[in-house]
Amino acid sequence: MRYESQRIAYWFFATSMLLLALQIVYGFLMGFAHIGFDVLHEIIPFHVARATHLNLLVVWLLCGFMGATYYIVPEEVGRELHSVKAAWVQLVSLVVVGVVAVLGFHFQWWEGRKFLEIPRPLDWLVVVNVLLFLGNIALTMWKAPRMTTTSCVLFFGLLMAALLYLPGMIPTDHQTLDSYWRWWVVHLWVEGVWELIMGGILAYLLIKLTGVDREVIEKWLYVIVGLTFLSGILGTGHHYYYIGTPRYWLLIGGIFSALEPLAFLGMAIYAIAMARRGGRAHANRNALSWTIGCSVMSFVGAGFLGFAHTLPQVNMYTHGTLVTAMHGHMAFWGAYAMLVLGIVAYAMPQLTGRKLHDTPLSAYAFWASNIGMVAMTVAFGVAGVAQVYLERKMGLDFLQVQEEIAVHFVGLVLAAALFASGIAAYIVQFVRYGLPVGVVQPAHEAEIASTLATDGGVGTAARG
Ligand code: HEM
Ligand code: HEM
Ligand SMILES: [Fe+2]
Repeated sequence: MRYESQRIAYWFFATSMLLLALQIVYGFLMGFAHIGFDVLHEIIPFHVARATHLNLLVVWLLCGFMGATYYIVPEEVGRELHSVKAAWVQLVSLVVVGVVAVLGFHFQWWEGRKFLEIPRPLDWLVVVNVLLFLGNIALTMWKAPRMTTTSCVLFFGLLMAALLYLPGMIPTDHQTLDSYWRWWVVHLWVEGVWELIMGGILAYLLIKLTGVDREVIEKWLYVIVGLTFLSGILGTGHHYYYIGTPRYWLLIGGIFSALEPLAFLGMAIYAIAMARRGGRAHANRNALSWTIGCSVMSFVGAGFLGFAHTLPQVNMYTHGTLVTAMHGHMAFWGAYAMLVLGIVAYAMPQLTGRKLHDTPLSAYAFWASNIGMVAMTVAFGVAGVAQVYLERKMGLDFLQVQEEIAVHFVGLVLAAALFASGIAAYIVQFVRYGLPVGVVQPAHEAEIASTLATDGGVGTAARG
């Protein structure tokens, strides 16, 4: 860690860990409810648990992205953050909005639109919050002595994510239009601009962890950005098949969304190739595992399992079933959860000066959570395919089918227990790192050599 203001990242990461733990609690509530143990039904009915599970997911990931940005940008552009005070105000207000939203769900104060459940007044507060965040980062970059491709891609991804929150707020009482705009947020986030955030953070991690030249890594970043835009924007059409939009979406959505896995495949090949090419092994092997793991698991969860139900002929049957939950879990886990856990695993030794990476506990966290998540995905998949055949092909009643497939949720809860033990290990490790200290020497000497080599690299355009 070279800049004092990077320390603020720790508090975003800590908040992120707390919300992740809470998200998992609500996951278990739903898992048990599916088996029939819906004991908290009077206080937390299924839809409340679901909305809370999803919104906590989005907020802990955003908190992680923000922490990552506060950590990465000063180092990339070579100066302290514009205002640490504004970052604190932003964190505290984000937490307040989050707590009010989650409490609100429990009192039926919500909009009932999957992923965009938080009520309109709170939406506006989110907008103000994100503007504060973006302003702080923009001023930091503007006043900096240099810009890097990595920091620009990261910033652009965050800016576009903020702008794309707005279509979800367009007022309409038309079901089709509401769905139409909702996908601009949900789809264009995870299959569009969040991929830029992912590309930026992955590039930073690969530069630091593999020692490969910035120039080479950033060239790949352009390829990823190109593939993402080429496929992801019109790929939105895979949500417009049967919602009342014109028929041409069947063709456009089918073709372009079928190309989307290429961007994820590109990222996986790129991360593996850079790790193999890097002559120098960084001491933090655990952070490298999360980085490579992220690129591979996102390809499996988003690319492969996304493709599995993206063609209109398939989606006609699988839409809104547990097949979607199968894909949703692995995709969010691989692409964005592992990304946040990766940058946290990288930053913690730097922030605290303690070299606790590569302990048995950190290895356990990686393997148990990943094997657990693969097993959860299988359980959702088996339940989902059974649901599609019974409900959509044979025409059985929805609730009758839910009873038939309840047994698969026993498997889900067992797998989730393994997953949760991995996350618990990760959080224990996080706590053991302790609080961040002032500017510390970079944890590893090779790190300094790499930073010097890469900071002067061709990918760094000098300004002013
Ligand atoms: C202990 C761990 C977890 C359990 C037991 C669990 C369980 C569940 C259940 C039962 C549902 C509702 C499925 C339905 O609609 O019937 C759900 C939804 C969802 N969960 Fe989890 N979850 C866990 C962790 C996670 C994690 C770590 C993530 C993200 C990385 C995640 C992402 C999601 C998403 C995206 C949905 C919505 C799926 C859809 O669109 O249908 N969950 N979860
Ligand atoms: C990291 C990237 C991705 C994430 C986090 C993700 C996550 C999700 C989630 C949570 C849903 C449920 C949304 C909702 O019902 O509101 C969903 C739906 C869907 N995803 Fe993805 N996804 C990703 C990438 C992809 C890709 C690359 C494809 C195609 C190749 C794809 C194909 C689909 C399809 C077809 C649906 C609609 C399912 C339905 O009709 O119920 N996804 N995705
Ligand atoms: Fe999509």
